[in-house]
Amino acid sequence: YPLKNHNTFGIEAFADEFVSVNSVNELKEVLQENSGKQKFILGGGSNMLLTQNIHSLVIHVNLKGKEVVFEDDNHVHLKAMAGENWHEFVLYTIQHNYGGLENLSLIPGNVGTTPIQNIGAYGTEIKDTFVSCEAMDIATQQIKIFTKEECEFAYRESIFKNSLKNKYIIVSVTYRLTKKDHKINTAYGDIMAQLTEKNIITPSIKDVSDAVINIRQSKLPDPKELGNSGSFFKNPIISKEAFDLVYHKHPEMPHYIISETEVKVPAGWLIEQSGFKGKRFGDAGIHSRQALVLVNYGNATGQELLDLSLKIQETVYNNFGIRIEAEVNII
Ligand code: EPU
Repeated sequence: YPLKNHNTFGIEAFADEFVSVNSVNELKEVLQENSGKQKFILGGGSNMLLTQNIHSLVIHVNLKGKEVVFEDDNHVHLKAMAGENWHEFVLYTIQHNYGGLENLSLIPGNVGTTPIQNIGAYGTEIKDTFVSCEAMDIATQQIKIFTKEECEFAYRESIFKNSLKNKYIIVSVTYRLTKKDHKINTAYGDIMAQLTEKNIITPSIKDVSDAVINIRQSKLPDPKELGNSGSFFKNPIISKEAFDLVYHKHPEMPHYIISETEVKVPAGWLIEQSGFKGKRFGDAGIHSRQALVLVNYGNATGQELLDLSLKIQETVYNNFGIRIEAEVNII
């Protein structure tokens, strides 16, 4: 079964078997009927690099639906099924004047993936609105509800990427959103600049969403036009000592103080300084407007993109003594 249309990198790879499930019951049945088999869970395919064919049963989680599960004067708890397209869901919340997700507009992928890596952009992370998620235990088909604490969220991390990796399938996620007195977050410089340009002084959630969409469209390639998985690397969090060493030589390096002992630096800057921005090696390349994004110009193989990422990691390490780590799942 061809997976080219099921991964935003547009890598040509095949699965031995493929099934798309449209309900929680179907998911349960498929897991029961295939208990002895190796399984591979597929959502929007927006955060993975396929380096080989998949010799297992691919289960495409295509659960749809959304509903209000709690509401008072100020807040709504909105539950969405895992297969809902993320950006369409964000637009739906904005149409209904539910605030909290606007800074996360236009992120590729589906609702079910959002807690796995605690997606984040422009000063907001999913953990800021997350209430709970329902997930099916692959081995027992029991549904377990995970609270925010149980998810162990951190920067681009959760329990689902760590101790519970490949153990659960997320079937729905519930978010707590505001109905009024929205907490507008324009702290991120580029958002402020967009709003100022339009003379918007008291922005609505729609204004923030539009600004984010503009910024993303100007920097990040559209996977429909150019295969990619968003940021390929995480921004490394390094010790103050390691930071001081580099900062001494490069006082222009952008950085973000995490604590007294830790500093986060943009991998995109390190990669750009290492000369990779806009470079192309066959059909594998580094995006010309955002060095954190690897792109497939057409027929790159997963292995070629992986090799390029290793070369980038090695060069950045040699230049700065900083190790950058992949953010996408390498399959
Ligand atoms: N920078 C460069 N060169 C580049 C890219 C960035 O010098 O090629 C510098 C910028 O000038 C800026 C700093 O790095 O000073 C930060 O850049 P930017 O605001 O573009 O964000 P980022 O750190 O590169 C992160 C997220 C993005 C998210 C943006 C905005 C990670 C791994 N990536 O990127 O997330 O949209 O911040 O919040 O944390 C994604 O995960 O797919 C993604 C796009």
